[in-house]
Amino acid sequence: MNMNGKTVLITGSTDGVGRYVASELAKQGARVLIHGRDASRAKALIEEITAKGRAAPRFYQADLSSLAGARQLAEAVKADHGKIDVFVSNAGIGSQNNGPQRQESADGFELRFAVNYLSGFLLAHLLLPLIKAAAPSRIVNVASLGQHPIDFDDVMITKNYSGSRAYAQSKLSQIMFTIDLAAELKGSGVTVNSLHPATYMNTTMVRAGAITPISTVEQGGAAILHLVDGDDVANKSGLFFNGMNEMKANAQAYDEAARKRLRELSLKLTGLSG
Ligand SMILES: NC(=O)c1ccc[n+]([C@@H]2O[C@H](COP(=O)([O-])OP(=O)(O)OC[C@H]3O[C@@H](n4cnc5c(N)ncnc54)[C@H](OP(=O)(O)O)[C@@H]3O)[C@@H](O)[C@H]2O)c1
Repeated sequence: MNMNGKTVLITGSTDGVGRYVASELAKQGARVLIHGRDASRAKALIEEITAKGRAAPRFYQADLSSLAGARQLAEAVKADHGKIDVFVSNAGIGSQNNGPQRQESADGFELRFAVNYLSGFLLAHLLLPLIKAAAPSRIVNVASLGQHPIDFDDVMITKNYSGSRAYAQSKLSQIMFTIDLAAELKGSGVTVNSLHPATYMNTTMVRAGAITPISTVEQGGAAILHLVDGDDVANKSGLFFNGMNEMKANAQAYDEAARKRLRELSLKLTGLSG
């Protein structure tokens, strides 16, 4: 897909791999909508992009650790744009951001489930009219190889909490949502895929976990860009990719009953089912 003139929203693009992807898409002439929590980090990225002679990306500030923040982001984007060609749901926190203890979102949900999964679930639904208006269009959910099955008796992980389990549960939730949404969007011209960009890229969340990085944002960014504009994936939907290659996710992703439980819970928690 030629990205010149295309509108692309990338959540979590003031840092890490999202920042790299935003910058690359701006180079290709896309109208890039960047998002993050920190206005000064956004300003630095805007300056970097405009210094290269590219159009200034529009910055949307929102904290996705509350559903109100996700709703506010969707409203702000809707107020400015009639269509979105690509939505990259990338914002996230790692297993150790702000320490190893269990944390909760503003709405009282386990924090990684809320930020990494529920906010993207809500945003995708709220932005769907704009994404459909741009068809053929795409949704890319940035997930991970780190995947832990959901215990439906304790989705908020009140027992046996660990940051890596919470992170991995949120990432599998994104993959399960991708499969469901692809089925829902069949025939609409909108595709949705998820991926593991690369292992331990040198980013804030990896450094927060005191992990030695083993890959670069350029490597992970290339895998995200492949799903954003690759012609070979134009008609593929509902799939999980490890880098550039399609692969199977954790078995729970293919359990229809589990996906239905997650879908119903997510619709309820986000208020979409009411
Ligand atoms: N790093 C890896 O090796 C790796 C591997 C597999 C998957 N991933 C996935 O790749 C994606 C990007 O990760 P990264 O490594 O680039 O991480 P990063 O450098 O830590 O960047 C995370 C981005 O998410 C935003 N974010 C975090 N919490 C937020 C919140 N509450 N509200 C709004 N925005 C928030 C951050 O915004 P601020 O600038 O405001 O902090 C930042 O822009 C994540 O979904 C991650 O799970 C990463």
